[in-house]
Amino acid sequence: MAYRLSINGVEREVDVPGDMPLLWVLRNELGMVGTKFGCGVGLCGACTVHLDGVAQRSCSVPVSAVGEKKVATIEALAESETGRALQQAWLDEDVMQCGYCQAGQLMNATALLARNPQPSARQIDAAMSGNICRCACYTRIREAIAQVAGKEDTANV
Ligand code: FES
Repeated sequence: MAYRLSINGVEREVDVPGDMPLLWVLRNELGMVGTKFGCGVGLCGACTVHLDGVAQRSCSVPVSAVGEKKVATIEALAESETGRALQQAWLDEDVMQCGYCQAGQLMNATALLARNPQPSARQIDAAMSGNICRCACYTRIREAIAQVAGKEDTANV
């Protein structure tokens, strides 16, 4: 079945089964491989994208459920001021090790800062807790988000 999707502001059309996860539409049908496959069952957060600005796990969203919602992926991160600030903070804090989970981390962090521009360390930890990092970069992820939120010291917050 044909589906029209708005992805990063561009209208795309795909002809796929309705139960195909959005993750596979992005990666396999459209070649947008920035969104990563981790667990495939909604547990790790590697596949996080935005649907109308809300962080969602694309492995758990059938393409038929996207409808009119606007999809944003890591490929469009640098188009927003917050996205660019997070990219710089990720570099400043030297966040990445293997890097595999980072697209999902950044998409979730962007959604967090959109709904709460100045989260506390606890709020950052709570919001990011579902995004698994096998290199355990959690402290640096928190520091990078805090940097963008204008909170330099999160050690005792
Ligand atoms: Fe989607 Fe793990 S791949 S949550």
